[in-house]
Amino acid sequence: MEHLKEIFNEFVSPYLQSANDRERPDIQLKIDHSFDVFENSRNICNSLQLSAELAETAQIAAIYHDTGRFPQYRAYGTFKDSESCNHGTLGARTVLKHNLLNGLPKKQRNTVLGAIALHNRSALPAFISDELRTCTEIVRDSDKIDIIKILIPHMTGVQSGNEVPLMGLKEKPGEVTPAVLQAVKEGRQGAYQAMSCLNDFRLLLLSWAYDLNFEWSRKEMLKRGYVDTLMNQLPDTDQIHALHTPIIEQLNS
Ligand SMILES: [Fe+2]
Repeated sequence: MEHLKEIFNEFVSPYLQSANDRERPDIQLKIDHSFDVFENSRNICNSLQLSAELAETAQIAAIYHDTGRFPQYRAYGTFKDSESCNHGTLGARTVLKHNLLNGLPKKQRNTVLGAIALHNRSALPAFISDELRTCTEIVRDSDKIDIIKILIPHMTGVQSGNEVPLMGLKEKPGEVTPAVLQAVKEGRQGAYQAMSCLNDFRLLLLSWAYDLNFEWSRKEMLKRGYVDTLMNQLPDTDQIHALHTPIIEQLNS
């Protein structure tokens, strides 16, 4: 695993070197995120009864899941897939192009590539192997927990200049988009495209409570206090308060 972390560091280093002062924090954020997602994946693996090989595959996929972010940002100057390209499939292509995982057995490498390509899909395809499904679910949970960690400080006392992580969404006090609110009410994940302000983004992060696959991740969302922090930043209305109990019940399930 140490060797694979080293290869990842060698791969990202030129992106960091060639970035200007404005771009460097964005690149560094994605590097730190990759390692934090790896840490989360380790915790999930430790909470499950997995074979050593499957646990290793999931953790490799976790480190490499956002490989596509680096060429994406260099080519388009954004992390918004809707304005550039799908960073999941670009990531799998990039790993192949740079031979980053050539030391792995072919089957294991293919599972990692599949998990990278699928990690950012709104839902997983029905017909994939159990192994690929487990690895991808571990990466998706690990990713979500870390994305919430990254976004919460940016959402607190929002200043202009924070647009990259917040996808250009603006603070509109008291506003929520009905379709996004409805999704959380119905216990399903909100859609990125439906968001029109920061409160929608807060709701979308809360809706992830319904899309976490493992008990570790649900407990972690509670333990880190993300539900209360996000709820407190949302409009103080009955509609918003009504979301609280079902979310807590879901996370305790
Ligand atoms: Fe990603």
